[in-house]
Amino acid sequence: MVQLSSLPTFAGIPENEVLRLESIMRPETHAAGSYIFREGQEADAFYIVMAGEVAVTKDEWGGKTLQVLGPGDFFGEMGVVEQAPRCASTRAVGDVSLLKVLGTDFRELLTKSPSFALRIMATISRRNRENTTLEEREWGTAPAVSTRQGRVTVVCSMTGGSGVSTATCNLGYELARQSGGKVLLVDGSVEFGDLALMLDMVPAATMAHLAQDPAPTMEAVDRTVLHTDSGVDLLAAPLKPEQADLLSSEFFHRLMPILRVRYDHIVVDTGHGMQEPLPALLEEADQVVYVLTPRLHSLKNARLFMSVLSQLELEDLRVHFILNGAGGPFQSLQTSTIEQSLGKPCFGAVPADAAAVADAVDRGAILCKEEPTNEVSKAFAALAGGLLEGKSSIRKDALFKRPRWLRSLTGSRELAKAAGA
Ligand SMILES: Nc1ncnc2c1ncn2[C@@H]1O[C@H](COP(=O)(O)OP(=O)(O)O)[C@@H](O)[C@H]1O
Ligand SMILES: [Mg+2]
Repeated sequence: MVQLSSLPTFAGIPENEVLRLESIMRPETHAAGSYIFREGQEADAFYIVMAGEVAVTKDEWGGKTLQVLGPGDFFGEMGVVEQAPRCASTRAVGDVSLLKVLGTDFRELLTKSPSFALRIMATISRRNRENTTLEEREWGTAPAVSTRQGRVTVVCSMTGGSGVSTATCNLGYELARQSGGKVLLVDGSVEFGDLALMLDMVPAATMAHLAQDPAPTMEAVDRTVLHTDSGVDLLAAPLKPEQADLLSSEFFHRLMPILRVRYDHIVVDTGHGMQEPLPALLEEADQVVYVLTPRLHSLKNARLFMSVLSQLELEDLRVHFILNGAGGPFQSLQTSTIEQSLGKPCFGAVPADAAAVADAVDRGAILCKEEPTNEVSKAFAALAGGLLEGKSSIRKDALFKRPRWLRSLTGSRELAKAAGA
């Protein structure tokens, strides 16, 4: 059995307390690069490093290493004491040997070993102080500001050409203008992303550069973000479709916590269809803006999208339907029919104005900025206001009821026929 009393960390602790600790600990080894535990996991053990080094990292700080622990150091005490999920990850730098104490045994030990308990408290207090200083140094701000939790809005449609990219640019611009907050547009249409073109930017770097690092850092994000003339920032999609494979689900799961620290609103453009990385983006989303057009195929796909969400166990995700091209020449379904089929009111409707929208795209401009009095711009402004307030921009007071006759209908084609569309 290892002699803990020989380690400086345990010097001065009465022998009976050290013996008590030794009786409940178990040796464990971890290969280089493996995680001992990850941020967010249940905290079920306390560890002492016997040989090798352990890196402590925090996703929220861009996967930055907060500390490297060596022989005699201990870790894992905070989550076990608080009985809360792990607030940082720990990873073996080289091969490491540890001693592990189960959480229940550790808590019991604290009640019986006062000197040991004091040593643990002193360490927790010192680490808190060190981490706060590091946070201030990293961000140059007080901790309360640097832990900003931006909202992720995923804009999507299962039907191509519905207006997802148009909505992303205009909603992003309006969210920034109305809230005064920092807004980032992320081009998650990873193969054929259009946002850089639509915002008249020539990206020096794209998310493909960022994805080359397995753990993107805040500094790398800052280097990759483009600052547009409209005041919103942009993370551009790769320039070549074959680079899309770099932007995996794992990449977006790592990226989003960093972006939430830096921005108040993160608005994500997406391609069409459910393939990677959309499910990961939906998992990261606080809300979804689903863009549909008033056409039968678009309605059918919106309904299929909702059923896929429940297959992904994301049925609780807040989905706002917006009807794009409402009142235009191609409207084949009444808005009320669409809402009845979806089982909820649309969050907002954007009128059709092909010339104005296309002209803005061709000029690399955001319509809401260039022509705020255009009806399309006004609709996007109202929608953004609704997203900020958490309220729909239309039918605020309409209490929607789904008629009983409609509940029996399953297919949208029958529905459209029944509705006389
Ligand atoms: N409200 C609208 N009225 C008229 N045309 C629109 C409107 N919204 C988008 N469009 C046009 O529809 C096409 C597809 O829009 P886009 O935003 O690129 O869709 P997606 O990203 O879903 O493929 C573009 O030509 C765009 O100019
Ligand atoms: Mg698009």
